[in-house]
Amino acid sequence: LAEGVGVFRRFPLVPVAGIPLMEPIAQQWGPIATFRARPDDLLIATYPKSGTTWMQEIVDLVLCGADEAWAQRAPTHVRSPFLEICSPPPIPSGVQQLEQTPPPRVIKTHLPVQLVPESFWDNDCKVIYVARNPKDTVVSYYFFDQMNKTQPEPGPWPAYLQRFMRGELAWGSWYDHVCGYWAAREQRRILYVFYEDMKEDPGREVQKVASFLGAALSSEVLARVIQLSSFAAMRDNPMANYSSVPHTLLDPAISPFLRRGEVGDWKNHFTVAQNEAFDAHYQNRMAGPGVPHFRSQV
Ligand code: A3P
Repeated sequence: LAEGVGVFRRFPLVPVAGIPLMEPIAQQWGPIATFRARPDDLLIATYPKSGTTWMQEIVDLVLCGADEAWAQRAPTHVRSPFLEICSPPPIPSGVQQLEQTPPPRVIKTHLPVQLVPESFWDNDCKVIYVARNPKDTVVSYYFFDQMNKTQPEPGPWPAYLQRFMRGELAWGSWYDHVCGYWAAREQRRILYVFYEDMKEDPGREVQKVASFLGAALSSEVLARVIQLSSFAAMRDNPMANYSSVPHTLLDPAISPFLRRGEVGDWKNHFTVAQNEAFDAHYQNRMAGPGVPHFRSQV
């Protein structure tokens, strides 16, 4: 990665089937759409900033029986590559990385359900979806877009919040994303997990993940998974906190990747008026029976 750093910049967003994606992804969309999944692939899908990295760590720890040394063999983005990530050459794309990754592969994606390559469904792959309440998600995204030098400039917070509500940030509408996977879980092998539930009772949620993966955890291994995937442990683990990525790309001096890791941090950033407007918009967008229920505090 370090060798190709010069090719990075803040890429504009370009729509793919109506979803705004970073320009290099849109330009190299063909190999993503035709990606050949294997039946033993596991997909971890999220809207950005919903706890992807946390779930990647939990899954890796569950699969290796919480072997700490093994879980630190490589950074997160190598252990479970990011399906659609594309940079200008010579940086290998996510698809190219995955072609070199031995099975069973754990694959990260932020694609909305309708853009997931068809081969995942043809092969009946398991999917773990993590959803986080939108207020904490947008605050987390705002700080991330400041430190991630490949996404568009976030600009001032009030306009950023409006763009989130209109579905104009990278990977599109949060509302459509969380509802799309919610509906799809009726037909597909999708485990739908909430960030707030993981915070409330990590043991319960890790057990759900383990049983979905067909792994039996002793109480001792379960305790180690919880400890090694805690916010404090991951924040201090260079293989889980993205500090190995060149700081010209992800600058932890602006905002660390593991920033707060809390439910309700939005209260420190939303004004009363923004909160009221957001709630009204939310009620409108999330009306109806077939939608997931979110908690913005626990
Ligand atoms: P904050 O910015 O609110 O701190 P993603 O991995 O999808 O990009 O999500 C990043 C968010 O998940 C960040 O939220 C980060 O701190 C939080 N996160 C990462 N690991 C976590 C953990 N072990 N416990 C709680 N939150 C975690």
